Amino acid sequence: MEANSPAPLREMWYFALPGQAVPKGRMAAKTMLGEPLLIGRDADGKPFALRDICPHRGIPLTAGTFDGREVTCCYHGWRFNGQGQCTAIPSLVPGQDLDIARIKVASYPAVEVHGNIWVFFGEDPANSPKVPEIPGLGPKGPNLFERTTFRSNIDHAVVGLMDPAHGPFVHQSWWWRSGASIHEKAKAFEPSPWGFTMVKHRPSSNSKAYKLLGGVPETEISFRLPSVRIERVEVGRHLLCNLTAITPLEEGVAEINHSIYWTMPWLSLLKPVLRPYVRAFLRQDRDIMERQQDGLRHDPPLMLINDADQQAKWYYRLKNEYARARTEGRDFVNPVKARVLRWRS
Ligand code: FES
Ligand SMILES: [Fe+2]
Repeated sequence: MEANSPAPLREMWYFALPGQAVPKGRMAAKTMLGEPLLIGRDADGKPFALRDICPHRGIPLTAGTFDGREVTCCYHGWRFNGQGQCTAIPSLVPGQDLDIARIKVASYPAVEVHGNIWVFFGEDPANSPKVPEIPGLGPKGPNLFERTTFRSNIDHAVVGLMDPAHGPFVHQSWWWRSGASIHEKAKAFEPSPWGFTMVKHRPSSNSKAYKLLGGVPETEISFRLPSVRIERVEVGRHLLCNLTAITPLEEGVAEINHSIYWTMPWLSLLKPVLRPYVRAFLRQDRDIMERQQDGLRHDPPLMLINDADQQAKWYYRLKNEYARARTEGRDFVNPVKARVLRWRS
């Protein structure tokens, strides 16, 4: 990959689906990074991912059936296991010497972490950043999951996700912030694995939503390649965690996957109230990025300014460094230096 390419990074895990979207013995179709995938869960509960194209005549395998062990193509009934190995070709007659062991569908590494399924794109998962694990969370899936899709390349989607200055303009609503509450902020950042972290701090006093939590919450927000933001809010012994992962679906189309986890039981009672707010928040981001495309299609020069756009600058540097390190076969060197960023929002 060339420097500054808007193409998504390879040799990376990307968020695919919330685990509950694929029960045991079921499969789902999803295009990620322009590649058609079959994402399934076998009878033992293990997720797997295959290229969703039958090697015989190209029909999507997800158009067929899955019995928890094998996927059967709907066209001529060829069967494949979860590793993509062909296991049967019904039309073969005894004595016909086709070696089905040589027929394979490409398979992708798939894992489930905190109840979400992630798929690896690349050759070398062993030497690539792992799917982020969040201390304090178990294998249980998110308490709340919401997703939205919009026109954007991965870079604009990520930059929009981390952009601290759009809040008062894009996310105006009575329950979050109002434009009038804009004030100066200073936050300390430091490098963290494959990205950077806004070190633990008390959340902004103008975030009314936090008051619902009670206690004095402390927040830590980290970003890591390729496109993952993790916000941990600790309230006493309890934890509220927002995991936002952007998945490039195909060229110019991105998806925001937003998982919220919490350990305070009472918050679950508020779920019906919470969901519309989360949805509205994501919709605001989606609408602004869709609108941005109206300008971007003219390919204008753009600006990144201090300090409000510093995280965006770091993102581009991190991405270029990762691509370069992989191409050159050397270790990744985090380009982020610890510093305090100041902006008004
Ligand atoms: S196209 Fe799949 S079995 Fe023929
Ligand atoms: Fe936003």
